[in-house]
Amino acid sequence: MVHEVRGVVAKGKGLPVELETVRVPDPGPGEALVTVQACGVCHTDVLYRDGGINDDFPFLLGHEAAGVVEAVGDGVTDVELDDFVILNWRAVCGDCRACRRGRPWYCFATHNAAQKMTLADGTALSPALGIGAFVEKTLVAAGQCTKVDPEADAAAAGLLGCGVMAGLGAALNTAAVTRGDSVAVIGCGGVGDAAIAGARLAGAAKIIAVDIDDRKLDWARRFGATDTVNSRGTNPVAAIRELTGGNGADVVIEAVGRPDTYEQAFYARDLAGTVVLVGVPTPDMRVDLPMLDVFGRGGALKSSWYGDCLPSRDFPMLVDLYRQGRLDLDGFVSERIALDQVEEAFEKMHKGEVLRSVVLL
Ligand code: APR
Ligand code: ZN
Ligand code: ZN
Repeated sequence: MVHEVRGVVAKGKGLPVELETVRVPDPGPGEALVTVQACGVCHTDVLYRDGGINDDFPFLLGHEAAGVVEAVGDGVTDVELDDFVILNWRAVCGDCRACRRGRPWYCFATHNAAQKMTLADGTALSPALGIGAFVEKTLVAAGQCTKVDPEADAAAAGLLGCGVMAGLGAALNTAAVTRGDSVAVIGCGGVGDAAIAGARLAGAAKIIAVDIDDRKLDWARRFGATDTVNSRGTNPVAAIRELTGGNGADVVIEAVGRPDTYEQAFYARDLAGTVVLVGVPTPDMRVDLPMLDVFGRGGALKSSWYGDCLPSRDFPMLVDLYRQGRLDLDGFVSERIALDQVEEAFEKMHKGEVLRSVVLL
């Protein structure tokens, strides 16, 4: 059987997205059909629309989603009918060189659905990040479904599927922030605020939020920032050092994805401290650092892909902490919108008016 549903499609470079009929096949072996309940709007969706990822138009956008399993294909045992799941883009293979070494969060051969969703005329769609969830039903690899507590609000829980997990994981997994650490986060959008929330969960003693927008700094306090720096008027490196006894922070998380903010992160950390880059740069960007400083300052310069998360380990745990009131996922949901408002949400995101707009289906 093929399901005819509505979905948000990007048809060509830079063109506004359109609501289209999408044909979704029943799940084959190893696949699951999911009724999407909520899906957050992320920068990566705009990047797909603008041709910044690749040219495989048309794209079915959306990837920060939660929903309910409607059917599973042959051989699927991990999830079943009616399970409440968060969709992930790290369905680990278990067999690549990273998985075999016991480091599946680096899996280099993650699974996606084998069958294609299509437009009404049969044109195959490329699903964003191998998911495609601005659509009433989506087809994914069963491993892309992570079962979590069904009492969780779908709009909040779905955000763990991408940006919020990236930020939380940058602090919890990549930096491994621990009790008493000083942490600075540069860039306080959804990803940076999640890094702040992660640092608080891990017991950081001082959490310094840096942004060029005072409104963002206000929001950052909600997630646990103890100090804020507006780097438009103040040198953030000097300010972070001053707030840390002249030394710099133990951990600095860069959540913008720019050379100037990366350089700030590099110099704002203490000797032997850790820098984590979770902001995504563009191909033209370069960093130029004195090699003697790279050596002489010691410590670690790390990158965090998807917060180095392992969905099966991290999503249920984080949803439980959310349900217990220890992780404010609701705070990331700035507005709830309909499927035909995605283009407007891109505009709000661009203007910095929201942490996340979430489409309810
Ligand atoms: N210095 C400090 N903060 C900055 C600067 C700067 N030079 N330039 C921008 N910012 C702030 C913005 O004001 C905003 O609050 O960085 C924040 C970026 O947040 P969002 O645009 O909401 O993006 P977010 O979803 O948080 O993602 C951040 O991580 O996953 C990647 O692709 C994503 O590169 C992006 C980054
Ligand atoms: Zn693998
Ligand atoms: Zn995303």
